[in-house]
Amino acid sequence: MSSLIKKAVFPVAGMGSRFLPATKANPKEMLPIVDKPLIQYAVEEAVEAGCTELVFITGRHKRSIEDHFDKAYELENELAIRNKEKLLSCVQNVVPSNVSCIYIRQSEALGLGHAVLCAKPAIGNEPFAVILADDLIDAPKGALRQMIEVYEQTGVSVLGVEEVEKSQTGSYGIVATGELDGRQRIENIVEKPHPDVAPSNLAVVGRYILTPRIFEFLSTIRRGAGGEIQLTDAIARLLQYETVIAYPFDGKRYDCGSKIGYLQATVDLGLKHPETGDALREYLRSLAL
Ligand code: G1P
Repeated sequence: MSSLIKKAVFPVAGMGSRFLPATKANPKEMLPIVDKPLIQYAVEEAVEAGCTELVFITGRHKRSIEDHFDKAYELENELAIRNKEKLLSCVQNVVPSNVSCIYIRQSEALGLGHAVLCAKPAIGNEPFAVILADDLIDAPKGALRQMIEVYEQTGVSVLGVEEVEKSQTGSYGIVATGELDGRQRIENIVEKPHPDVAPSNLAVVGRYILTPRIFEFLSTIRRGAGGEIQLTDAIARLLQYETVIAYPFDGKRYDCGSKIGYLQATVDLGLKHPETGDALREYLRSLAL
């Protein structure tokens, strides 16, 4: 599938403190949901949407992400000798051969906006996608693909959004929107507002399509919420010059950055998985909660 958005950025330098001690030596993006790490779901969504250059913004202790998307000679050899064809192909097909991976190290934890700015040398002057692997979205047609279609129709930045409980606004970038040609144009965006001052309960989840002008603002904004360089603040500047659309994608999102979201994703995808579905359903019934 050919797409106007070829490059996708995966900020993966975060600490994963909500999953300690599991994330003491392993990146949170490598936590598995059933049998695939979170980052692989994100990568598959980007590849399915037509992206062919994947830019990972990594940090310390993230080597296993690079290894995961690299060739594993010894393992492949071992599986081939033992005639484990099915396993061999699932190890070999983690990324298709026309897709390239670029790794850029974010040496200081200065926030999501800073992580995206680190991707600039690999992105250049093109629109691009950002995917946060923490937000796993299960949808028959991938959320990023849906958003790229909106970009292809409009040529403007598109943010994936969903309604959250008002009490949860302090965990998200929150947008206020107005109508423009049957779509939701963002009029205001605020990072993690307290429910009392939140402009709405429409939250940005981890899917963005951004025009390259965002880099201009990312390189000049000051530290915002939490003392970090916030992508949300740069988007707030961008919308003074360009239209930015909020797109309520079709699909179920799991906040896999939280323990409960992670468990919900495990149960739902476990129920859908051909190897585990029936047995897991039976087990859940037996619990009769
Ligand atoms: C980040 C963004 C926030 C967005 C959220 C989506 O926050 O800063 O605007 O709503 O991702 O998951 P984080 O969850 O990294 O604190």
